Amino acid sequence: MKAVSLFTGCGGSDAGLAATGFEVVMANDILPYARDVYLANHAETDYQVKDITKVEHFPKADLLAGCYPCQGFSQGGLRNPDHKYNTLYKEFARALNQIKPKAFIVENVSGMVRKNFAHLVEDQIKIFTEAGYKVKFEVLNAADFGVAQERRRILIVGIRDDIDVEYHFPTPTHGEGKEHPKVTIRDAIGDLPEWPEGEFYARDFHWYYMSRDRRNGWDETSRTIVANPRHMPLHPMSPKMVKVEHNVWKFETEGRARRFTYREAARIQGFAKDFVFPETAVASLDMKYKVAGNAVPPPLFEAVARNIPNNIW
Ligand SMILES: C[S@@+](CC[C@H](N)C(=O)[O-])C[C@H]1O[C@@H](n2cnc3c(N)ncnc32)[C@H](O)[C@@H]1O
Repeated sequence: MKAVSLFTGCGGSDAGLAATGFEVVMANDILPYARDVYLANHAETDYQVKDITKVEHFPKADLLAGCYPCQGFSQGGLRNPDHKYNTLYKEFARALNQIKPKAFIVENVSGMVRKNFAHLVEDQIKIFTEAGYKVKFEVLNAADFGVAQERRRILIVGIRDDIDVEYHFPTPTHGEGKEHPKVTIRDAIGDLPEWPEGEFYARDFHWYYMSRDRRNGWDETSRTIVANPRHMPLHPMSPKMVKVEHNVWKFETEGRARRFTYREAARIQGFAKDFVFPETAVASLDMKYKVAGNAVPPPLFEAVARNIPNNIW
């Protein structure tokens, strides 16, 4: 099974595809450090660093995967329905029309289903349907699929019209009453050092950071991992936060607090324990956080990919 991956980042979605048995024959992103991280972990992929609008040809593949950027929709982003990033799905549709894979998978932030963005979701469904696919979408929480983090994302799956199967989204495997308990912060990072100096963003907790609770305990799932290190949730050994008034929180006790490191963020995203962040010419703390936080949790993407009926490949 061959896949083409667009908006690949450091390869969260692709790690999920690899676990499902896909070979990624082409990957693309505009961010050089995303490529460096990807290739340090999956050396065999043809990874092109290029603006997608400039890519003319895509290789044949059974599956097309893509997670266009979300600045326009996300809570942390601009929430502007007209943001230029919001039309990159048209580039995905262009690749879809050229490759005509048997199936495709898209991931994006769940904010996309909010009312003022509804027209964008509708337009995506429309152009993917017009490209010849039966399209379904659903909001899934990564925590329900073995990821130590509350992360709700919209997944869009299309099966080519001439293939007579129906796609069903996976049902939760982790949580109360499910096959497995939820994976906790302790499960994900409990073996890592407490104060790995240089691996966490150590600047002040500014007023905006202190405007809400940023800490979950060791035996809980994490709050959503983000790409901007300033907004990264707190490590559970930090003091608890208590509410002072609306939008104002403080630390309950004295004592040192810190955000998750980029390595912890990657673990909490569901990357393997041996996932590598290479020291290349474009490596920086911000870049490491960015690619880790932008990623799709591999176990979530894997669960969605595995539910495509095997007989279509
Ligand atoms: C949500 S992230 C994708 C995460 C990735 N799927 C993963 O699992 O690691 C979106 C990616 O789109 C890339 N991107 C933004 N604009 C782009 C463009 N014009 N051409 C190619 N890639 C672009 C960003 O650099 C970012 O890595």
